[in-house]
Amino acid sequence: MSQSEHTIEALFDEGRTFPPPPDFAANAAVSSPEIYAEGDDTERFWGEEAERLEWRRRWDQVLDWSGAPFAKWFVGGKLNVTESCLDRHAATQPDRIAYHWEGEPGDTRSVTYAELLAEVCRLANGLAELGVGKGDRVAIYMGMVPELPVALLACARLGAPHSVVFGGFSADALADRINDAEAKALITCDGAWRAGAVVPLKDMADEALGRTPSIESVVVVRRTGSEVHMEPGRDHDYHELVSRQAGERPAVECDSEDLLYLLYTSGTTAKPKGIVHTCGGYLVGTATTYRMVFDARPERDVYWCTADIGWVTGHSYMVYGPLANGMTSVLYEGVPQYPDKDRFWDIVERYGVTILYTAPTAIRTFMKWGPEYPAKHDLSSLRLIGTVGEPINPEAWMWYRDTIGAGRTPVVDTWWQTETGQIMISPLPGLTTLKPGSATFPLPGVGADVVDEAGQSVPLGQGGYLTLTKPWPAMLRGIYGDPDRFVETYWRRFSKPEEGRWVYFAGDGAKRDLDGYFWLLGRVDDVMNVSGHRISTLEVESALVDHPAVAEAAVVGRLDERTGQAIAAFVTLKGARVGDDALIAELRDHVATRIGKIARPASIVFTDELPKTRSGKIMRRLLRDISEQRHLGDVTTLANADVVREIAARAAASTTTED
Ligand code: PRX
Repeated sequence: MSQSEHTIEALFDEGRTFPPPPDFAANAAVSSPEIYAEGDDTERFWGEEAERLEWRRRWDQVLDWSGAPFAKWFVGGKLNVTESCLDRHAATQPDRIAYHWEGEPGDTRSVTYAELLAEVCRLANGLAELGVGKGDRVAIYMGMVPELPVALLACARLGAPHSVVFGGFSADALADRINDAEAKALITCDGAWRAGAVVPLKDMADEALGRTPSIESVVVVRRTGSEVHMEPGRDHDYHELVSRQAGERPAVECDSEDLLYLLYTSGTTAKPKGIVHTCGGYLVGTATTYRMVFDARPERDVYWCTADIGWVTGHSYMVYGPLANGMTSVLYEGVPQYPDKDRFWDIVERYGVTILYTAPTAIRTFMKWGPEYPAKHDLSSLRLIGTVGEPINPEAWMWYRDTIGAGRTPVVDTWWQTETGQIMISPLPGLTTLKPGSATFPLPGVGADVVDEAGQSVPLGQGGYLTLTKPWPAMLRGIYGDPDRFVETYWRRFSKPEEGRWVYFAGDGAKRDLDGYFWLLGRVDDVMNVSGHRISTLEVESALVDHPAVAEAAVVGRLDERTGQAIAAFVTLKGARVGDDALIAELRDHVATRIGKIARPASIVFTDELPKTRSGKIMRRLLRDISEQRHLGDVTTLANADVVREIAARAAASTTTED
């Protein structure tokens, strides 16, 4: 836990507190203190929340935990999630805007609930025409266009699980994910706008499609107008396909526990895991937490989450959670610095955004750019601002509240994961007294603890491992096709099955202060967090080793002021090959091809040997110390202690590539 210890001091600042502003207390639905006590009765609490959604058939049992750690929620319940997200709002508030979309070049489109439902039905009809039916997996590899949420919802309408692959992933990464899920269809775009340039999504998809035998059809949204190859018989133009379809389609009835989607995430092995989310519990979990954490007031709010729908934040809090609550959301296609560094604030002002949800890494970037960019705009519409994805340092928290929130808005720092599906630890803005840098408390209905190596709760004031102590509705139901890995990864370490006690290990370090507040301290495993993106050290290592010049590679995440962590690689070369700048560039490109640009190492140090224990294990902790230029402690357990000084000297001399 050296890394966690290192960040503790940076994160701790227990002096300042901010009680909830009075206007939040007005919303009794999310500000009555009894709500935490109500959450203690897990089944009753989540059962009551489920009543707010549309069900075709009510459940017989809220939770079946008898097969722990494999959970079943809302057992016997039947629904189609799109009826809660679309049909009921299209019936009662057809003209309310579901999405204000803004393209990076400045083009805009607004879609009402009635229009969204019709478009979803048209695409569902089109997919059905291509042979997609209940249970068929559909891969989605798109930029942030309005057709992206439409694609997710059209799949959901058919009961066909979606598997969204973030548009920043490479062709190889896309192919691996398609093959693991054995997806039958792919929905993609010709390209996506990013920082004024086109990301050639269809070209990359074509590369992947050379080795994805399960794919029968491809639907291509025209976004950038780039010239793309269309394979006759397999590839279909989105607009041609949907324009000939009817704007209605009955939703397919699904079981609560039917697969809603897969989302691949990096873990502690080289192979990403397909996280399994099912219909009933996931919708209850996301809809409830959305309403509580964001104090949803659909009749007046304009909500903007700046994430990409390709990540879980986008699934839960740009699609399912806000739509289930009938909210109006903003979707923005591009980067924050295009055409200038005030783009976000321009969007907030023009749409009158009331709730903003973004990542600490973005906030730190805005801090670096300076207050003059937000100062150019009227941000007074904002009433609540949130963060997600990585620990937020108190300085960034304060800057966010003061500069963006005018020293007035609550800040909700929300801790959760792809696996949890829903926010787990977060303030409730009408109730919680905030401390800058702390995600505060587990939400009502959620159980969390901080434990030591032996699984014992640590006393207040101490740090340890973050665990979740009771099941929650949006919890992952497994790893696709790998039940053993599911149990091993999340449940083995701290559970006591013989006592019937199942405890989920999140992979994060945390500390509770003397007031019981939770402070997140970063990952304690081999997962890095770069700009809020989760990347496995082993995945990057195996991409490096796959290059013909590389003999061995070790990768660590080192602290970085702006991105949280940066990827530092240490590489030994085969034979007489000598490392130089050209090879560094080649290796970075190679990682981009294998995984995606987000996984490119910021620095690569060539070395003749890697520091290893006598049993041959690479000492990543030591490499992290070297990368962060910390004093090196005792290295006597190393087989090759003398190599360490040499690597440290080279690392100190190496340069970092900014992306
Ligand atoms: O380390 C935690 C960090 O992000 C990890 C989950 O990453 P991912 O599955 O990609 O989901 C990100 C968006 C939900 C966690 O294990 N993390 C997420 N939110 C926070 C956080 N760390 C500290 N504070 C947070 N608010």
